[in-house]
Amino acid sequence: MTSLEGKSVVVTGAGGGIGRDLALAMAAAGAKVLVNDIGTSVKGEGSDSAAAQKVVHEIRENGGTAVASTDSVADWESANRIIDAALRAFGRVDAIVNNAGILRDRFFFNMSVEEWRAVIDVHLNGSFYVSRAAAAHFKAQNSGCYVHMTSTSGLVGNLGQANYSAAKLGIVGLSKSIALDMGKYNVRSNCISPFAWSRMIGSIPTETDEQRARVEKLKSMETSKIAPLAVFLASDAARDVTGQIFAVRANEIFLMSQSRPLRSVHRAEGWTPESISSHAIPALKAHFYPLDRSQDVFSWDPL
Ligand SMILES: NC(=O)c1ccc[n+]([C@@H]2O[C@H](COP(=O)([O-])OP(=O)(O)OC[C@H]3O[C@@H](n4cnc5c(N)ncnc54)[C@H](O)[C@@H]3O)[C@@H](O)[C@H]2O)c1
Repeated sequence: MTSLEGKSVVVTGAGGGIGRDLALAMAAAGAKVLVNDIGTSVKGEGSDSAAAQKVVHEIRENGGTAVASTDSVADWESANRIIDAALRAFGRVDAIVNNAGILRDRFFFNMSVEEWRAVIDVHLNGSFYVSRAAAAHFKAQNSGCYVHMTSTSGLVGNLGQANYSAAKLGIVGLSKSIALDMGKYNVRSNCISPFAWSRMIGSIPTETDEQRARVEKLKSMETSKIAPLAVFLASDAARDVTGQIFAVRANEIFLMSQSRPLRSVHRAEGWTPESISSHAIPALKAHFYPLDRSQDVFSWDPL
């Protein structure tokens, strides 16, 4: 049931990091894989067609089937070319992993419009473009699976990542909407929030002993640890799993919460700013969330 034999999978941003391991694992499970990557820097500057091709070689060397695509996810026309390339090469698409990503970290008060747009374009718009490009095919086929990479920077919070956090939380809304709109066509959509030691987080400073010890522990969050859940989600064994948000950190898998009312207050005569101040807020305050960052919630070492 967890075999991907006969299936065709598109993995974006599969030329390195988490995406490369996702592509290798999908192929090892029997899928034909379209390896998409523009081969850019963490900031999304420059491109190198060798990145996708290298992973295609690796898959072929292991006896698998793969083709490369160097089109960007961040543009509607080129996102369509990614799906077209998979359909041309394999005749079908069964699963899409929206994994491509860049970072342009900056404190909100200094963030430029360009930094905002670049990150929204790759993560949020890119996930929409690639997903939407395959939607008609999935509908006609009466099956399909989306896996989108989100982040605890969006789900929980992080400093200096307003663009990234907004994009990653937007992806959660996109995924849930796809799950709702396409459920009747047996199309599933789920998110994975990965923690992995990739070049994306590899730039953490290691100046003090404490920082060095922390980074050593972070290295146990291998990129390959994300792949088994993605393979499972793409498989028929996951046919009842949709609209969920998972997180993976080394050997831990989490099911993440989704927003629901926590507590309510009611006043028959309605509210005034004064009664909100004297009654509603004191009643609700005990349930306020602290200004947590991801590392405050995931406060123990990776296991
Ligand atoms: N590493 C982590 O701990 C972590 C945490 C949370 C979320 N994520 C998410 O996981 C995904 C993979 O991250 P990673 O850590 O492997 O980073 P990475 O930088 O190693 O890989 C990202 C890949 O995406 C490619 N890419 C960038 N822009 C592209 C575009 N427009 N079109 C196609 N490909 C493009 C890059 O060339 C790169 O190979 C990202 O979506 C990231 O936001 C990672």
